[in-house]
Order: sequence, then C-alpha cells, then structure tokens
Amino acid sequence: MKPVILTGLRANNDLTIGNYLGAILPMIDMAKSKAGEYQVNMFVPDLHSFTTPIDHAQLQEQIMHNLRVFVAAGLPIDHDDVYVYRQSYISAHSELTWILDCFTGFGEMNRMTQFKDKSAKLNEDRISIGLFNYPVLMAADILLYNASYVPVGDDQTQHLEFTRDIATRMNNQFGELFAVPLAVPKQHEFFGKDQGLRVRDLMEPTKKMSKSDETGKGVVFLSDTPEAATKKVMSATTDSFGEVKFDMKERPGISNLLQILALLSNRPQNEVNAEWEGKTSYGDLKKAVAEVVSTFLTDFQARLAGVDDQTLLAKLEASETAMQSVAGQTLYKAQSAVGLRPKV
Ligand code: TRP
Repeated sequence: MKPVILTGLRANNDLTIGNYLGAILPMIDMAKSKAGEYQVNMFVPDLHSFTTPIDHAQLQEQIMHNLRVFVAAGLPIDHDDVYVYRQSYISAHSELTWILDCFTGFGEMNRMTQFKDKSAKLNEDRISIGLFNYPVLMAADILLYNASYVPVGDDQTQHLEFTRDIATRMNNQFGELFAVPLAVPKQHEFFGKDQGLRVRDLMEPTKKMSKSDETGKGVVFLSDTPEAATKKVMSATTDSFGEVKFDMKERPGISNLLQILALLSNRPQNEVNAEWEGKTSYGDLKKAVAEVVSTFLTDFQARLAGVDDQTLLAKLEASETAMQSVAGQTLYKAQSAVGLRPKV
C-alpha cells in the first residue's frame, strides 16, 4: 500500500486568481508530482460548506463547478493513484465524527482559534454546532484513510494537531485503531512550507485577495470577463514612489502586480522584477499585467467549457466506491472498538 496524501478542496463561493495561483495550482502540481509513489486523495468537504449559512439552492452546482475548475486547472483525474471524491457520498465521515465527538472535550474545541475568529465575525444570532464541531469532522476525514501527509495552511494547523491528539487518545484507550498523521513541522518538511505566496487585493494590497470581499473591486474572479478584469487591473492601487520596485512591505501594490505578472507568464519572479525595476510608468506595468490576466482568463474559461462532465462523474463515482470500502473498514474497526460491533 502506498502512503496516503490527503487534502480537502473547499467549494463555496466563486474562486479568484488568488485561490488559483496560491492554492489550486500548488495542490495540483503536488498531485502530479507525487502520484505514482503516493496515493493522493483530493476530496470536496461538502459537509463543511454550510457550517456557516449559505444559499443552499447553489450548493450542488457550486460543488460540480469547482470540481470542473480543478480539472480545467490540470487535476490529473486519469491517474489511478489520484482519488477525487465528495465527502458526503461516503457516510463513514459522518458516522466516525459522532464516535470521535464523544471522546472530544468541549474545552478542546473551544480553544480552536478558527472557531473563535469565525464565530466572532459572523453576523448571526445563531452560531452553529457544526462550526464548533468542524475540527472533529476534519479529523474523521483524515483518519478514515490512514493519511500520513496532509498539506495544511497556517489556519488549519491546530486542526491537524487535534487530529493527532484524538487519534493518539483513541489508540491509547483501544489499541492501534488509527494511523497518526505526521506532525506539522514534518508536513512542512515534506511539502516545502508554502513560500508565503499570497496574491493581494488590487484595491487594498495590504490584504489578501479574498473571495468574500464585499465590493469585489480588487478581486479578479476566474469567471470575470477579460474586459472586467482589465478594468480592475488598470485601477489597481499603486504608490507615489513613481518608480517600479519589488518590495512587498513598502510597495505592496506594485509588488503584487509584479507577482501576478510572473506567475501568470510562468517566469521567475526575479527575472520579471529585473525587467521592470526602475521604470517609471505604472500604466505600462498595469497594461502588461492586464494582458496576461486577460489571456489567462480567456484560455482558462475555454478549458473550463471543455471539461467533460461524463468523464468527471465517472471518476467521482469510481473514487467514491473505492473510498467507501477503505473508509468503511476504518469505521468498522472504530465501531468494534467502542462496542457497537462484535470484536474484530
Ligand atoms: N478545513 C479545510 C479548509 O477549510 C478543508 C478540509 C476539510 C481539509 N477536511 C480536511 C483539509 C481534511 C485537509 C484535510 O480549507
């Protein structure tokens, strides 16, 4: 059996070029380079999509749309070591979550910083138990497949640590039930700690480009027309230095543009910087960026339109069948350990 790399690809909201360059492409590159030696599980955590309120009429289309985006971005769905599945199609996720819930402390969940941040920001009179409980579901996502490698951003490290804690706790009480995923520093060693690649908002370049930004003026969506994207790039916030220089700290606006230019034209950052540094026309730089963004969007949208739904659905169904069996075995072991099933 090959060691398992596992990651969840969230599917709410429209995706931006920031998601594409900062998260989707690195993940897909990882799948391409590791499949063969490793099993790569890439799943859509659809049960996670409504821990905070959403428009449920959109969810089904949103899930399929995002899966098409991953395929258009190059997700290798023809590779036998790559499994692509929807969490809710494998009922063991929900079932194991309940069992793990009963071994999880209230205080333990209450300490999760993502829960504290998200619940503080939510403008709702009701914060769901689902939001509170989400790290337990995430632990089930990982433990069901004996995954060792889980690439996680900083906002998820606490959840991965919890996964290790609950797995170890259950193993101590019941014997070897779960494979414990590697600790966070080892994960960073394995995946190469994300280079801090963050595409910034065009209007407010000190902030990350975020799909949930209210105005959307500084955000280029993958669904934007090239014309709309050009407008956004041309009105990007710059600075008053009057000379191009790459310096994310002091000159985030210009540096963000240089970064987008390098990434979308597939050239090393320092080569692009060398070409532009010292120039005095910010307008020319914006035009160059607008051009690569437009070309990228045109190509990407054509590839997206060409994604074959039959092929995608066949892949999902094959992966889901295979994963139901793997997850079912782990679930049975846990059920048996806690006395819900005869001893194995
Ligand atoms: N929580 C992750 C996020 O918000 C998504 C996710 C769900 C995940 N389950 C996972 C990631 C399991 C890795 C492993 O982005």
